[in-house]
Formats: sequence, structure tokens, C-alpha cells
Amino acid sequence: MRPWLESDAEALFKYASDPEVGPRAGWPPHKSVEESLEIIRTVFNDATNTWAIVLKETGEPIGAMGYGPSCDCNLPAREGEPITGYWVARPYWNRGICTEALRLMIDHIRKTTEIKSLISGHFIDNPASGRVMEKCGFVPTGETVVDPEQGRDTPICVLRLTVWK
Ligand SMILES: CC(C)(COP(=O)(O)OP(=O)(O)OC[C@H]1O[C@@H](n2cnc3c(N)ncnc32)[C@H](O)[C@@H]1OP(=O)(O)O)[C@@H](O)C(=O)NCCC(=O)NCCS
Repeated sequence: MRPWLESDAEALFKYASDPEVGPRAGWPPHKSVEESLEIIRTVFNDATNTWAIVLKETGEPIGAMGYGPSCDCNLPAREGEPITGYWVARPYWNRGICTEALRLMIDHIRKTTEIKSLISGHFIDNPASGRVMEKCGFVPTGETVVDPEQGRDTPICVLRLTVWK
């Protein structure tokens, strides 16, 4: 994983314009390379908590991994508890890439921050994402929430990872 670069805009558009990717994570498909560039500048611009997932072989960005304030969503976060989010381009699904990237980020958080826990959630009809979290140690809290801001009324299953006791 590495920080996003403005030169990634075309690759980001190629994969983030896929209607099967963004809506599963609560954001609309990108409509133009310019929009992708704007996302790199305004959303993917903090290299301390947001990374491009790149193919080791080619260096091509094929997904995103990050964590940040949970105040913009309906997840039942504890005081100061960050939310985790990620996606991987459809041609690369089910190869263990997201699990590898999430494990790397959790390891990095353990080594470099005082964060005690992370919260995340996945739409109930997106079990692959829940599987990624569970493989990385997240545990379902048993709660579901609805967040129309994510573009759908579908229930979201909530999971939490204890980083440090
Ligand atoms: C969810 C997503 C990030 C997973 O990325 P990935 O690189 O394919 O994940 P991995 O290969 O590391 O792991 C996927 C796991 O889900 C499992 N899985 C896939 N489809 C599944 C399904 N329909 N039901 C249950 N499990 C499923 C895979 O078998 C694998 O588990 P396993 O290793 O035990 O076999 C990817 O599908 C994606 O980007 N989806 C769209 C955006 C998104 O959903 N983001 C997360 C929002 S919460």
C-alpha cells in the first residue's frame, strides 16, 4: 500500500466507475477522470490514514484502504473510535487482496497509534466484506443500523475490532 498520487486518477476512474463497487460501500460510481482526480485531492489526501492498494507486480492501484472519523455515518461508534473502509477492483476480487491490505493497516495502526478499537459495517447483502473483517479479527456486535446517507435503506451489520485492550 502507498499514498494516492494525482497520476492515479485514470486507474481510479477505471475501477471506481464500476457500478458493482461503490454502491456496495455507500458511494456512487465515479463519472469522470476529473471526478476521480478530485476524490484523490479531497478524500484520499491524508497519507497518514488512506492508502492505494497497488499490485506488487505492476504498481497499478486497484483499490483503497483507510480509516478515519466515524462522525459522518450512523455506526454506533465509541468516543473517538475510527471507522474502517475499503474496496478492491472487481477483476481482483476473491484473491485475498483486501484481507492482506486490512491486516497490513491494522498492524500499522497497532505500531504507530494509540487507537484502542475500530468500527466498521457492511450492507447485509454484502457478506464478502463481513468475511474480510472477520478474517482480520473484527467481531459482529450484533447490531444493525440503517444509514440513508449511504444511498440505500438496506441494514448495515456492525463489527468492531479491539486493537488494544
Ligand atoms: C468486499 C471486498 C472489499 C472484498 O475484497 P477481496 O479482495 O475480494 O476480499 P478477500 O479476497 O480478501 O476476501 C473475500 C472473502 O469473502 C468471501 N466471499 C466472497 N463472496 C462471498 C459471498 N457471496 N458470501 C460469503 N462470503 C463471500 C470469499 O470467499 C473470501 O473469504 P475466504 O477467504 O474465507 O474464502 C470487494 O468485494 C469489494 O471491493 N466490494 C465492493 C466494495 C465493498 O463492498 N467495500 C466494502 C464496503 S463495507
